[in-house]
Amino acid sequence: MSSAPDSPAAKVSILWATTDHAARIAQLHGQLFDEAWSEKFIRDLNHDPACSLLLAADGRPDRIVGFVITRVVSDEAEILSIGVAQPYQRFGVGKRLVEAALRVMANSEVENVYLEVAADNKAAQALYRGVGFNQTGVRKDYYKRPDGGTSDALILAVAPTTGTQ
Ligand SMILES: CC(C)(COP(=O)(O)OP(=O)(O)OC[C@H]1O[C@@H](n2cnc3c(N)ncnc32)[C@H](O)[C@@H]1OP(=O)(O)O)[C@@H](O)C(=O)NCCC(=O)NCCS
Repeated sequence: MSSAPDSPAAKVSILWATTDHAARIAQLHGQLFDEAWSEKFIRDLNHDPACSLLLAADGRPDRIVGFVITRVVSDEAEILSIGVAQPYQRFGVGKRLVEAALRVMANSEVENVYLEVAADNKAAQALYRGVGFNQTGVRKDYYKRPDGGTSDALILAVAPTTGTQ
């Protein structure tokens, strides 16, 4: 899906990440999640042959505004993390990232793609359900919040070839 010409996401492209992008991905991850992933952790994921890192870049490869990280184990895959910088949210970038990741996996032996999403993260759930994910399970009180509260994790899955990509 492309964005409208006047949207902030009009010049956003989906690219493969390299280790040079690890610092910016870590920075963006830290802005979007309570538990930030370090640059070293992102770098290690990028070196792991089971993992794929895709970026959303605005006009230039170093202007990173989103990412999706996946890991394949045998015939199953997992979306480990996805994020879009706040000014670029709600312009279709997250959907493009998920669809790109699903396309990559549709060309492999992967039969099912899984992810965990907080029960109170309605934005992410809407994104995932919109590309074909369905709930297959729940982990009670899985996420611990900084304020001491908890949230269940919903487990969602899709067969990569049945997404809307
Ligand atoms: C979840 C996230 C990646 C979505 O990225 P995005 O680029 O804003 O998503 P898109 O614009 O592609 O939205 C696709 C669909 O998802 C749903 N959606 C996205 N954000 C939403 C919101 N805030 N409220 C309701 N629905 C939302 C809508 O159905 C939307 O389609 P529409 O705009 O045609 O209605 C982004 O909000 C984000 O980075 N959040 C913080 C990190 C996070 O929670 N990651 C997921 C962890 S499981």
